[in-house]
Amino acid sequence: MIQAIRGMNDLLPNVTAHWQHVENTIRNLLARYGYQEIRFPILEKTELFKRSVGEVTDIVEKEMYTFLDRNNDSLSLRPEGTAVCVRAGIEHGLLYNQLQRLWYMGPMFRYERPQQGRYRQFHQLGVEAFGMANPAIDAELICLSARLWQELGLRNPLQLQLNSLGSQAARANYRAALVQYFSAHQAQLDEDSKRRLLTNPLRILDSKNPAMSELNAAAPKLLDYLDPESETHFTQLRHMLESAKIDYVLNPCLVRGLDYYNGTVFEWVSSELGAQATICAGGRYDGLVEQLGGKPTPAFGFALGLERLISLLSAPATAQADIYLLAADTSVQTTLLLLAEQLRQSFPQLNILLDCSGASLKSQFKRADQSGAKIALIIGEQELKQQQIVLKHLRQECPQQIVSQAELEVCLKRIF
Ligand code: HAM
Repeated sequence: MIQAIRGMNDLLPNVTAHWQHVENTIRNLLARYGYQEIRFPILEKTELFKRSVGEVTDIVEKEMYTFLDRNNDSLSLRPEGTAVCVRAGIEHGLLYNQLQRLWYMGPMFRYERPQQGRYRQFHQLGVEAFGMANPAIDAELICLSARLWQELGLRNPLQLQLNSLGSQAARANYRAALVQYFSAHQAQLDEDSKRRLLTNPLRILDSKNPAMSELNAAAPKLLDYLDPESETHFTQLRHMLESAKIDYVLNPCLVRGLDYYNGTVFEWVSSELGAQATICAGGRYDGLVEQLGGKPTPAFGFALGLERLISLLSAPATAQADIYLLAADTSVQTTLLLLAEQLRQSFPQLNILLDCSGASLKSQFKRADQSGAKIALIIGEQELKQQQIVLKHLRQECPQQIVSQAELEVCLKRIF
């Protein structure tokens, strides 16, 4: 039997209703903040991710699904959406001298080692704001995410971690200080960190190896190297978050695994998910639009992992149907089909499920019960002749009624 690819999941009908509920809550919230949806391809030129996410990041070095197409062009399944959003924004002139608030939702692909909360195909909501340098937009997006947790009713609060990476120049100074520090402690570095010391020393701080934590804790702090402009921006943002009553902790080791960030970076972290604890992450990337060929444009955004978010929510029990129609005899199937159509016309807000199985009444009743329907409508030969319908309450103790076809709608209006 052919099975799905490792790390790529099917979402079965028992969970899709919950996914739709979360997606709808997200769409509704984004509209209330004035964000508009953008859709772009799943496949892009590999070059796009190399130039934005960065050549020496885990994503580009070892996690992309890259292949040559029939024309020998190198293409990659998108590992993230920010680079693609910027590419599309520049290509269609959305970013030139304009303010944009955009979002996208869909699958992303990374060849990581699959485990709970980490998949090779996963789903992100990405939210990106362009053209705004003021920390108010950083604060708006953090407030938006906080409101989302509240509206989804997360069982446990997430922790907001905050840091600032400063300007490119400030980061270069900091990088030099880090290289000096870690070079002096070469013997204590693990293999990954030794490699990163040469390629991307900031990423050493991101190490999940407990043996590295002491060394990392004592390393020079990024916040001590901030340029004055980034420092003012960060102070203003912290003030805004405090005024909006959003709690946060400063995490000087938060550097993010993608190269395009500068200034503010943040992550929302759960205490429930072990190693894959980051639900939502993002920050400022003021250089990326220009780097990809556009005019200099300030930008801020985040992405959240839908699998991780949904794993933190209790799925509400949702009924598949409100009304379930049963045929007590095969001769009534056409009448029942027409009745279902008539009810769908009159009650567009109700879910109406027609039993087409031709099975015994007993097993039809079993399915009616499983559907979660409140009401069962049954027609048999007898009712067909007399133009009547049996109405039975499935969720409360109530004697069943026999109603005429003419009375049925009035009756249902009273119930729903
Ligand atoms: P990221 O930190 O690479 O950032 O991913 C954002 C979120 O996607 C993570 O916090 C996590 O919830 C989810 N995620 C990432 N990889 C996986 C995986 N293998 N399995 C399940 N979930 C995963 C970005 O992608 C940036 N584009 C965020 C951003 C937008 N920055 C600015 N704008």
